[in-house]
Amino acid sequence: MSATHRVLVSEDEILEKIEEIAAQICADYRGKEIVLVGILKGAFMFLTDLAREIEHLSQDGEGVSACVIEFMSISSYGNSRQPGDMRIELDVRSSVHGRNVIIVEDVADSLETLYRVRQILSENGAAEIRVAVLLQKPDGHKRDDVTLDYVCFKIEHAGFVYGFGMDVEEKFRALPFIAVADPE
Ligand code: IMP
Ligand code: MG
Repeated sequence: MSATHRVLVSEDEILEKIEEIAAQICADYRGKEIVLVGILKGAFMFLTDLAREIEHLSQDGEGVSACVIEFMSISSYGNSRQPGDMRIELDVRSSVHGRNVIIVEDVADSLETLYRVRQILSENGAAEIRVAVLLQKPDGHKRDDVTLDYVCFKIEHAGFVYGFGMDVEEKFRALPFIAVADPE
């Protein structure tokens, strides 16, 4: 652990929580196929650990019949974070039609990104769509129509965080813990 980072959530705490979430998903989708759709870039590390844990449990016959990995990337035009201004930069490669999809996201802040991704997957015919997030920032929420089904950490007044997939100007994504930026 580096003295230059203020650790908000440690690696052990994160991995323990991800194990719990994986077990919940395995119980909810036992014997079924799921498609994890990670939102790049922020979700890459959460998705990796979550998917690996789901496979661990599933090898013992406790979990899903198959776990398919897909990614999406969404960009917003200008500074707007309105759902209508968000476009797909990278789309899923296999069809989600008729499948059980779990959107995997790093942070649920305003919820606009999740709303838009959910809308796109729904238009593409997903049978069921759930959402898994590493970090929920409830004070940032601007919508009440997005359900977060699996939440690792819900932190009030979290401020700007980074690490475990999340960046500060593209740096620090690979840190194995969640750190909090010093308030200005
Ligand atoms: P929103 O829920 O649409 O506002 O957007 C959430 C996205 O904003 C996340 O996927 C992150 O990429 C980014 N984001 C929000 N808060 C933070 C943060 O504290 N650190 C790093 N990225 C963040
Ligand atoms: Mg993101």
